[in-house]
Amino acid sequence: MHIITPIFYRAAANFSLFTLHFSLFVVPLHANLIKIVIMSIIDKIDDLLKEVQELSAKNADEVEQLRLKYLSKKGEITALMNDFREVAADQKKTVGMKINELKTLATERINQLREDCQSQESSDEAIDLTRTPYPIKLGTRHPLTIVTNEIIDIFSRMGFVLADGPEVEDDLHVFTKMNFAADHPARDMQDTFFVSQHPNDVTKNILLRSHTSSVQARIMEQMHTEDGKLTSPIRVICPGRVYRNEAITARAHCFFHQVEGLYIDKNVSFTDLKQVLLSFAREMFGPDTDIRLRPSYFPFTEPSAEMDISCFICGGEGCGFCKHTGWVEILGCGMVDPNVLELCGIDSKEYSGYAFGMGVERITNLKYRVSDLRMFSENDTRFLEEFEAAG
Ligand code: PHE
Repeated sequence: MHIITPIFYRAAANFSLFTLHFSLFVVPLHANLIKIVIMSIIDKIDDLLKEVQELSAKNADEVEQLRLKYLSKKGEITALMNDFREVAADQKKTVGMKINELKTLATERINQLREDCQSQESSDEAIDLTRTPYPIKLGTRHPLTIVTNEIIDIFSRMGFVLADGPEVEDDLHVFTKMNFAADHPARDMQDTFFVSQHPNDVTKNILLRSHTSSVQARIMEQMHTEDGKLTSPIRVICPGRVYRNEAITARAHCFFHQVEGLYIDKNVSFTDLKQVLLSFAREMFGPDTDIRLRPSYFPFTEPSAEMDISCFICGGEGCGFCKHTGWVEILGCGMVDPNVLELCGIDSKEYSGYAFGMGVERITNLKYRVSDLRMFSENDTRFLEEFEAAG
């Protein structure tokens, strides 16, 4: 009404009373009609503007449907152009601008959607530059995995089962339950990396395990009744990565791999240990291999020993490899200290056991003569390919 009435009053003022009456009756009717046309076309444009702003499409077909709906000859905007003819001359400018605005917006939006779909489709087909090129070469097992599997295989055949545990451990399982006194210098033999330290109670220290004996501590804890009886004999091997605070050189690293073994039952003796280790050495290094046990010290075994095998290069004659001794050291072992059994809740008067532990890198070096320990963790494929036939 506000668009139309000023024209009507200005016009009406120039007429007679009759004309005025007539005008009052006729012109508003006509004006209302125009108003309805204009208002409905403006509302329509506003609705379409809103609609167009929110358009979306999943693929090129949907974009084409939108183009047909809005921009084609039979589309909404062409239909608006037809309605536009009905608009009063003095309103054509306003309405015309609005239609143009709508047309531009619809064209831009639909073009944008088309571009989005195209780039989406082309990125779906994009080449993956990170993919290994054809032909994909068959990988090889890492030498440490080959040797670990071999060790596991040999002990499995003798009835040992696998046990696993955390690499980030507490002092309780790595040291305390393994009979290392809180201030015992033996802890320095296995200096490791600490995650958190409790100066007033070292058993609460959190650290990277320095040997897989911690797994044995956990197994012993789980395998007994309240009065210290075993729920079943324990016969486990614990392979895994261990950490020590060592400078990295060709002969030492701050992490390496171990396989430790534990056997606990009634009447287990040192002879059992010796026979199991002899069988292992002959399976691993050949049937002519001899073993020798030298007294040693570990806080968790008593008596303790270091085991050597006869040098398989010179057959025990003496060579550069065995430093002319005829023997090479491969592992530590001993009878489980009764204190360890007690600390883990097992009655040491009723049960006894043996334990042993070997470094997988050491055994691998002996088998494959890897000259530099660092090569195991450098991931150089030329080194790994050397083991194609072995794995
Ligand atoms: N835990 C010892 C080490 O890591 C190895 C070992 C295990 C020695 C069992 C004796 C008995 O050095």
